Amino acid sequence: MRILVTGKNGQLGRSIQKLVNTATKIDNNQSPNDFIFVGREELDLSSESSISHYFGNNKFDIIINCAAYTQVDRAEQDAELANQINHLAVKQIANIANNQQAKLIHLSTDYVFDGESDKPYIETDKPNPINTYGKTKLVGEKVLQTLMPTNALIIRTSWLYSEYGNNFVSTMLRLGRKLDELNLVNDQMGSPTYAADLADAILKIIKHKKFRDEGRTTQIYNYSNEGDISWHEFAKEIFKIEKIECKVNPVTSQQYPTPAKRPRKALMNKDKIVEVFNIKISNWKSSLNTCITILKQQQ
Ligand SMILES: NC(=O)c1ccc[n+]([C@@H]2O[C@H](COP(=O)([O-])OP(=O)(O)OC[C@H]3O[C@@H](n4cnc5c(N)ncnc54)[C@H](OP(=O)(O)O)[C@@H]3O)[C@@H](O)[C@H]2O)c1
Repeated sequence: MRILVTGKNGQLGRSIQKLVNTATKIDNNQSPNDFIFVGREELDLSSESSISHYFGNNKFDIIINCAAYTQVDRAEQDAELANQINHLAVKQIANIANNQQAKLIHLSTDYVFDGESDKPYIETDKPNPINTYGKTKLVGEKVLQTLMPTNALIIRTSWLYSEYGNNFVSTMLRLGRKLDELNLVNDQMGSPTYAADLADAILKIIKHKKFRDEGRTTQIYNYSNEGDISWHEFAKEIFKIEKIECKVNPVTSQQYPTPAKRPRKALMNKDKIVEVFNIKISNWKSSLNTCITILKQQQ
């Protein structure tokens, strides 16, 4: 079994790597040697020739595409590159996966929705992205579904954080320790997702018969931690756990304009992934505690 994970230096790629190196020691069905992790040095998704060259020399049974153009604000000015990585590279990988008879897991985002619904989105709700990043991720989803009507799976996730790199949690910890007060928007609602939880869900899915069976129809699944909060509440909880005395002022999105518009309420219903793959979903507060504990151990 050869399983490729792209984006090895990203939050999700590193979280899968960590889990593979630890969990597999107690699981005889899966060996760390099955996994190959690659970054842009080996496989540059902005280059068609890099992609064909890499896959020309390497064949896989499963491809987990964690690499993406993820800079939501910068994408507004960098639409061509975002489209190449989030759409055209996905198209090329889907064609390659078909040729290699590999199964493909691809990651997408709650930002394919406009956030105007008051109910959590289910997978079949109509997307309507309101920023360039969301638009490029949506066309990536669509081209993948067209080219691979079977043997692929798309996971939409949201507000990803981890003990790796720069993310909302690490940024708040850094700023909170430095500043007396911070302004955080309280009119954008979402669900945080601890990358280690998502990594665990992905490893469960690739072992599952419903994924391994040949010819299963390609489906979209939502995944985030449980709980719907604003960025303001998220920051308050981070400071509470770490006993950081930084005042968090609620502000509106209008008071804090960003180059890319964000959905107002991009909440996702996770019933499908729970039912089909028997995935257990942790509450956002308990996962946040776990992540902060690990971050402290690393310091
Ligand atoms: N972060 C979020 O809040 C969030 C929310 C919803 C959905 N998602 C989706 O979840 C997935 C994982 O996100 P993440 O937070 O783990 O992302 P991340 O930490 O930003 O990692 C993305 C990875 O993609 C790599 N990459 C970017 N351009 C590349 C290129 N041209 N060639 C090869 N690799 C390239 C980056 O490489 P370098 O390290 O070399 O830059 C990075 O390692 C993505 O599909 C993302 O769209 C993320």
